[in-house]
Amino acid sequence: MGLKRMILAIESSCDETALALFDPQRGLVGEWVHSQVVLHERHGGVVPDLATREHLRNLAPLLERARQTSDWSGISRVAVTYGPGLAACLAIGVAGAKALALALHVPVQGVNHLRGHVWSPFIPLHAAAPAQFEQRLHALLPHLGLIVSGGNTLLFTLDASRRITVLATTRDDAAGEALDKGAKLLGLGYPGGPLIEKLATGGRADAFDFPRGIGQRSELDFSFSGLKTSLRYLLEKMTIAEVQARLPDLCASYQQAVIDALVRKTVLGLERGSHPVRSVGLSGGVANNRLLRTRLEQGVQRQQIAFLPARPQHTGDNAGMIAFAAWAEAMGPDPLEEGMGLRIEPSLELTGRAH
Ligand code: KG4
Repeated sequence: MGLKRMILAIESSCDETALALFDPQRGLVGEWVHSQVVLHERHGGVVPDLATREHLRNLAPLLERARQTSDWSGISRVAVTYGPGLAACLAIGVAGAKALALALHVPVQGVNHLRGHVWSPFIPLHAAAPAQFEQRLHALLPHLGLIVSGGNTLLFTLDASRRITVLATTRDDAAGEALDKGAKLLGLGYPGGPLIEKLATGGRADAFDFPRGIGQRSELDFSFSGLKTSLRYLLEKMTIAEVQARLPDLCASYQQAVIDALVRKTVLGLERGSHPVRSVGLSGGVANNRLLRTRLEQGVQRQQIAFLPARPQHTGDNAGMIAFAAWAEAMGPDPLEEGMGLRIEPSLELTGRAH
């Protein structure tokens, strides 16, 4: 392998045990995932104790599988998600990463999971031409990013010196949470976002008028709790048979309300930036939603700005984005969290603070 330069990443913050191997000169050369979605589906949401046991059970066999199917001689660093996430789940990943780093005689680096989402839209840019990444990245900064997951809804900017500034968060529920809670009210399973998306394809988005959670036009912050409450009130007035018959319309209208709020606020964020934004990114689990991708792309391209959605395999929890962020952040302005004293930070925020 010659020069040591590869990063092995571990992600275990919630319900996926994931590994990735990143080579700055070739891109992601391997990704391995053990998903727990089926296990948690039965319980209608992630059960922390079950998730912890599953990580404990699966991390070592996954590492063994990765070792047998890839060349580890070029690994120069082990990166691991140290927050935000479920404490015991994070602890398994961090403990595993430290043990691995000791065995491989390389340093360990903590990566903020949210910064994985920040960088995930840039993975295809690197994959297309690794040697030209820096130059091409520079042409896309300042960047405005929308992170939409089950736990977060965030608008941020990434400036030319790779500094991150949070522009807006949600005042209550995250976009994914609004979809998951809406699905629960509708008697659908978990996770709700993909189930609502599937049913919505057969429904009319203008059948029901749900609040957009937009608040005052000038405000950037999101709010989705009113949307969920309005669905609950509506369902209380309908019979079970009516709900069943109108399920596609209910899903399409509810999904549309979430997407409208996300797109409108992002476009507002574009108008707000002190520097003209050159690209817009979309990441997090909800970024899988095809209608959201299409609508945001339309809103962004109308302003002749590049649209960078994360690849579907890098939208939810994954180690590919952790490995990539570990590499990209090493060239950024913030000090890296590294060393054998690395701790978990279950409440870590995007800009590094634990709350
Ligand atoms: O990023 P993620 O995997 O988990 C964390 O929150 O960390 O995001 C999960 C969220 C869930 O709320 C799920 O319902 C939503 O992403 N989601 C979707 C879609 N796929 C996943 N929401 C809308 N449309 C989808 N296709």
